[in-house]
Order: sequence, then C-alpha cells, then structure tokens
Amino acid sequence: MAVKDLITVKKCLFICNGGSCMKVDAENVTQAIRKSIKELNLDDQYHTVRTKCIGRCDDAPVMMIAPENVWLQNIKTEQCKKIVSEIDAGKTKDSNHFLYQFGENTIASDSIPTKKRKNQFNNK
Ligand code: FES
Repeated sequence: MAVKDLITVKKCLFICNGGSCMKVDAENVTQAIRKSIKELNLDDQYHTVRTKCIGRCDDAPVMMIAPENVWLQNIKTEQCKKIVSEIDAGKTKDSNHFLYQFGENTIASDSIPTKKRKNQFNNK
C-alpha cells in the first residue's frame, strides 16, 4: 500500500458523508470526485476525506476544500469532473456550487437553516 504525504498535498477535499448528505447521493458523489481526481491525473496532489455532518445539511451534499476553506453545495455526480477542474484552476468562487468561504459574511444558499424553519412553523 502506498503512503501519501498529507503535509505536501495541494488540496484536501472534505466530502460530507453525514446522514443528510448520504440521503442525497453523497456516496456516489464521493466516488465520482475520487474518479475525477484520478482521471485528471491529480492523484498525487489531492486527498479526499469522508466526514460526518459538517453543519450545512440544507445544502447537501456539501464539500469543504482545504487549504482555501471554500465550501461547495448541492454537488451532483455528473458535475464532479467539472468541479474538480474548477478547484484545480482556482475557480471555486465562480462555481455554481459555491456556498461560502471562511471569513466571508455571506452564504450563497437559498436554504433556511433547519432550526429557523422549525421556529417559523411553530410561530404560525
Ligand atoms: S449531513 Fe452533510 S452537512 Fe449535515
């Protein structure tokens, strides 16, 4: 088994495999992201990690890209190769899937956080 030097990889992709993301195809998304990395010959430079819930279930399936700390949302398997290409070209903020970059004030989400939604229904 080969050992990858995780200190020197160019990108680390944290793909959420929590319950809400798994309900909307995160397993196939994870496989498609890994396949795309291989097809684009980025295997030595990229590493993927499956995570538990990372807190954006309403935007599932989601992925966080390090070291930029950019978050992508609503990822579909058929778009994974394009998404990996955008990541490698440094164009994640132009992506249709861009959700948030750590340190910014705005989140590009149409969703209402689940807690707020529950409160809205309870107040009616
Ligand atoms: S399960 Fe993926 S963000 Fe919550």
